[in-house]
Amino acid sequence: MRNRIAAANWKMNLTLDQACALAGTLVETLKSIDLGGKQVILATPYLYLSTVADIIKSNKNIFVAAQDCSEHLSGAYTGEVSATMLYSAGITHVIIGHSERRTYHQEKDEALKTKVENALTNNLKVIFCCGEQLSHREQMKHFNLIEGQLWHGLFHLDETQIINCAIAYEPVWAIGTGVTASPAQAAEMHSFIRKLLIEKYGESTANEISILYGGSCNEKNAAELFSNTDIDGGLIGGASLKADSFIKIIQSL
Ligand code: PGA
Repeated sequence: MRNRIAAANWKMNLTLDQACALAGTLVETLKSIDLGGKQVILATPYLYLSTVADIIKSNKNIFVAAQDCSEHLSGAYTGEVSATMLYSAGITHVIIGHSERRTYHQEKDEALKTKVENALTNNLKVIFCCGEQLSHREQMKHFNLIEGQLWHGLFHLDETQIINCAIAYEPVWAIGTGVTASPAQAAEMHSFIRKLLIEKYGESTANEISILYGGSCNEKNAAELFSNTDIDGGLIGGASLKADSFIKIIQSL
């Protein structure tokens, strides 16, 4: 059965001290909460990965993730971090294709496809992001857009590979804006993504894959979003930077 996941995307926020304090509070608080099989993933800046991994290691339900990895595995790529390096440092998960990477770093489907392959070859689990701009939705092109992002960046994988991936649907107009997709809009897109997975991989494999919602998801709207059968949790930005709100989101899983 697929996992229910609350993934925190800290982006380029928090000092090292603040990051350690937040991770420490989460570990301490989650000691008294039975997570069952639910997973908590903390996507930290590269610089903090090993330190945060050390802090969370006593709880087998908490993992750390990188927010990206290089398209290359090694070599003269100043400033880049490869999937091989992440794995060698004990990191287990990586986010690939976040809209901020697609927008500010011009990451295209072909590069994302390579990143996904590099991550899986290095035993990392992938959270693959997709999402439409508001203009796509206004022109009723959002389903086509998401289908294209999945086919070009992810659906080259075979069944044994795709089960090591989760998909995060993050409408770009909802990220960091305070405007959340309505539960009906999110549910509609999540069931569309599930249908695409079924068509490509068959029902049993499709049902193993977690589909997360992201975009102004917070402690107030998480429970209603997560109550939908095809919404298996969330990728949380702003509301993951404070222990109180993120813990409430985890409890809504
Ligand atoms: P947000 O970010 O929750 O702040 O909207 C989500 C994300 O970008 O992953």
